[in-house]
Amino acid sequence: MLCLLPFIADAHIKLFNVAEYGAIADGKEDNSVAFLKAWSDACKWNGSATVLIPKGTYMLKSVIFKGPCNDSITFQIKGVLKAPIDPSLLTDQKWINFRYIDQLNVNGGGTLDGQGSATRRKCKNNANCEILFTTMDFDFITNGHVQNLHSIDSKGGHFIVFGCENMTFTDLTLKSPEHNRNTDGIKIAQTNGINITSVKIGTGDDCVAMISGTKNAWISNVVCGPGHGISVGSLGKNDGETDVEDIVVKNCTFVGTSNGLRIKTWAAPLKKTLNASNFVYEDIVMNSVQNPIVIDQQYCPLHQCDLKEISHVQISNVTYRNIRGSSETDIAVNFNCSKDKPCQKITLDNINLWRYGVRGKGRPLLRNNCFKVEGASYGKQTPPSCIAHRATPLST
Ligand SMILES: *[C@@H]1O[C@H](CO)[C@@H](O)[C@H](O)[C@H]1NC(C)=O
Ligand SMILES: *[C@@H]1O[C@H](CO)[C@@H](O)[C@H](O)[C@H]1NC(C)=O
Ligand SMILES: *[C@@H]1O[C@H](CO)[C@@H](O)[C@H](O)[C@H]1NC(C)=O
Ligand SMILES: *[C@@H]1O[C@H](CO)[C@@H](O)[C@H](O)[C@H]1NC(C)=O
Ligand SMILES: *[C@@H]1O[C@H](CO)[C@@H](O)[C@H](O)[C@H]1NC(C)=O
Ligand SMILES: *[C@@H]1O[C@H](CO)[C@@H](O)[C@H](O)[C@H]1NC(C)=O
Ligand SMILES: *[C@@H]1O[C@H](CO)[C@@H](O)[C@H](O)[C@H]1NC(C)=O
Repeated sequence: MLCLLPFIADAHIKLFNVAEYGAIADGKEDNSVAFLKAWSDACKWNGSATVLIPKGTYMLKSVIFKGPCNDSITFQIKGVLKAPIDPSLLTDQKWINFRYIDQLNVNGGGTLDGQGSATRRKCKNNANCEILFTTMDFDFITNGHVQNLHSIDSKGGHFIVFGCENMTFTDLTLKSPEHNRNTDGIKIAQTNGINITSVKIGTGDDCVAMISGTKNAWISNVVCGPGHGISVGSLGKNDGETDVEDIVVKNCTFVGTSNGLRIKTWAAPLKKTLNASNFVYEDIVMNSVQNPIVIDQQYCPLHQCDLKEISHVQISNVTYRNIRGSSETDIAVNFNCSKDKPCQKITLDNINLWRYGVRGKGRPLLRNNCFKVEGASYGKQTPPSCIAHRATPLST
């Protein structure tokens, strides 16, 4: 009887194995036709369906897995998916794209290999060669769960989440070489409800970037490094961007990153004020981070901005609580806010940051920088806060 158990357990889920649709695990031949056929059948199935990618290495060109489907659908990757090195086999800046699906699960313990380094080598002396393709792009997905996967050597970003609602990303490792620029870990826009938990990210850009229209994001147990930290923004460059609100970043660790917790906005003219508000950063460890806490409202990475412009993004109600660790530079907390829209309700509560490599008595104190910040600080403040210190927190 025992041998029947797995069959009984899965009896209500119909399996669509790509191998049965002609997929070949030789790591060379393109499998997009087989994958799309399996997807199409699974998506039409009147019940829970699973598209199974068994162990083995499958080459795959750009593919779009489109819904709506008839029921919940799982994309179970047990093997390795490999992107082509030649960028002409990819389209629309995406490698694997899921669109318009409710109750999508992507899991299986497998690996997405973007082959970004090989593509960058191939494109080195060719200005027309496009390299920035996202490994996996989620557009207009509701109630999605992405779990137990590895993404390595992405060409561009690892995951983009756009126009989604109620998403969870758990038990993932995302890894790209630090020198491969523009390889964001998880980039989020126009999305309401996203939880990112137990994720390890080492990459050549932001580990997590929350841009226009990110709401109700909960980020916890993330280890980031190398990379550019966990960021809100950049914001405020284009009209039509929408507010970023209600973000919690909790129990995260930064190791050797250029930034830790960063909010960045462009100094650019906007028709109306954009709001970035209600953020809590709590229980954060910085390990040799160049700029542990940053608000930069003159963000301009390529130094080609009009310095007379000012940011029209209003940053307010941001709390930093229990942040400790080491900085690679002399500035621990750098709040460089907008002359036009000073940062409001900024709270520093129990901050303990020291110069990397120097602990204990006699270590040089770091500095904080505050420009146009209104708020309060509580508890321990090392280095001394440049926001007014109060004895007890105000109730929020
Ligand atoms: C999908 O579900 C709809 C509504 O229940 C049904 O009419 C349709 O036949 C289903 N498609 C397939 C392929 O079963
Ligand atoms: C699809 O499933 C639903 C509920 O499980 C059922 O009521 C409906 O008749 C099914 N449709 C088809 C075409 O099988
Ligand atoms: C998202 O989750 C909330 C809370 O569980 C629920 O009310 C809402 O309907 C969900 N949204 C979608 C599109 O399913
Ligand atoms: C995210 O986690 C929080 C806290 O555990 C929970 O309240 C919220 O419903 C979760 N949201 C989603 C989209 O899973
Ligand atoms: C904090 O995150 C680490 C992983 O970075 C995890 O091992 C630990 O269990 C988390 N602690 C809590 C209280 O969630
Ligand atoms: C400030 O943000 C916290 C955490 O998101 C929230 O609970 C609180 O209501 C906000 N306060 C105001 C005045 O909006
Ligand atoms: C604050 O921003 C201005 C404008 O970009 C810049 O010149 C200045 O160096 C910044 N201050 C710090 C301490 O980073």
